[in-house]
Amino acid sequence: MRRLSSQMSRRRPLEVARRRARPLKTTACLAILMVMPPAAPAADKPLPARERRAELDRLLRHDCGACHGLERTGGLGPPLTPERLAGRPDDQLIQTILRGVPDTPMPPWKPLLSRRDARWLVHRLREGCADDGC
Ligand code: HEC
Repeated sequence: MRRLSSQMSRRRPLEVARRRARPLKTTACLAILMVMPPAAPAADKPLPARERRAELDRLLRHDCGACHGLERTGGLGPPLTPERLAGRPDDQLIQTILRGVPDTPMPPWKPLLSRRDARWLVHRLREGCADDGC
């Protein structure tokens, strides 16, 4: 066994070197992954497709904006600015969007929006519709 492996390393030094280098490469990749900031909104939650995201931006401006204000600073409904939503859990806001608030003008959006859509809307609200998308 010993003889065999020493023969192998004599015969194929390059391959041996490559094999030795591999764990180092893996470690480097892991280290890079660990220092990378998480992708928005949550790395483990899939985003709506690009066209859908554009539709959702329009919905946010025109439909939600009808009550919450074009700039989301409030109207019939309360402001939905990043400051106003700070500290409110995502799940609570997502539920409100999907279920609406009974006995108020806030309608349930579940017939039109998936949970993924609602999560994206919350993300857009939190970033104040960055890049003027909505
Ligand atoms: C017809 C008017 C109307 C429309 C359209 C509307 N909302 Fe609302 N919304 C309200 C009202 C009124 C409230 C406050 C309900 C209450 O009294 O708790 C509210 C509450 C909310 C809240 C909870 C805010 C908080 O501080 O608890 C969120 C989030 C929200 N709306 C998001 C949306 C989104 C996103 C849309 C578009 C998909 C939308 N709303 C469309 C009227 C509307």
